[in-house]
Amino acid sequence: MSLRPLIVGNWKMNGTRASLSEARAIDRAAQRLAWADVALAPPFTLLYPVHAEVEHIRVGAQDLSTEECGAFTGEVSASMLADAGAQFVIIGHSERRSRHGEDDAALVAKCGRAVDAGLSVILCVGEPLDVRDAAEAEPYVLAQLDAVLPDMAATGPEIGEVVTVAYEPVWAIGTGRSASAPEISAMHRVIRDLLVRRYGEAGGRSVRILYGGSVNGTNAREILALPEVNGALVGGASLTSQSFMSIVLAAGADDAG
Ligand code: PGA
Repeated sequence: MSLRPLIVGNWKMNGTRASLSEARAIDRAAQRLAWADVALAPPFTLLYPVHAEVEHIRVGAQDLSTEECGAFTGEVSASMLADAGAQFVIIGHSERRSRHGEDDAALVAKCGRAVDAGLSVILCVGEPLDVRDAAEAEPYVLAQLDAVLPDMAATGPEIGEVVTVAYEPVWAIGTGRSASAPEISAMHRVIRDLLVRRYGEAGGRSVRILYGGSVNGTNAREILALPEVNGALVGGASLTSQSFMSIVLAAGADDAG
């Protein structure tokens, strides 16, 4: 797949202003890369500070409200994210789904708010272990995705600039046990088929499908070399520039020879 790889660091609930030095180091390293797009999703409190410090990477948020403004204590809207410098937002991460009960209706609303505010979205899908063990992972993931993908009428024809999919099996997140290469390839292929059904040729050509779940400097090269994989969503290994950049470098290993 000739799509330029995208490597996204999801800092989750980690990071204070002391972490800005890591963001700066990632930005400096990304400047020298020709083969990949690099992005960071820090916690809300660091969105604007990171945005203000970096030039060569994209900055985005980990979540947003279903609402636009008003009496919603603790929530942050799409337009606030855009105002703080976010270019994208992660939607439907399994930690949000499980800890905050986010269902398809909430995710559809969040997606609509993000697209209306000019943010691109990284839609996360992935099956829990019991679903994989029951050999139902593919229909489970496709149903999650089909429920949330925005219509092209909302996004415009440049769907790949608005929508990115991240396949993150729940059992692989933060466990040190990534999915195997055949498991990743098989799931990415059926996701690609769904994107083509939904968006036609543009869904086949332009929408990136990232893999996430225990990606690290050791397994990144094998995962990112899979033709069905267009990048990675990285949690734990994105917290320092050293471990994160080892993954970004792996994305270009074959190009760089
Ligand atoms: P992990 O997290 O890389 O720490 O497994 C990935 C994610 O949750 O996005």
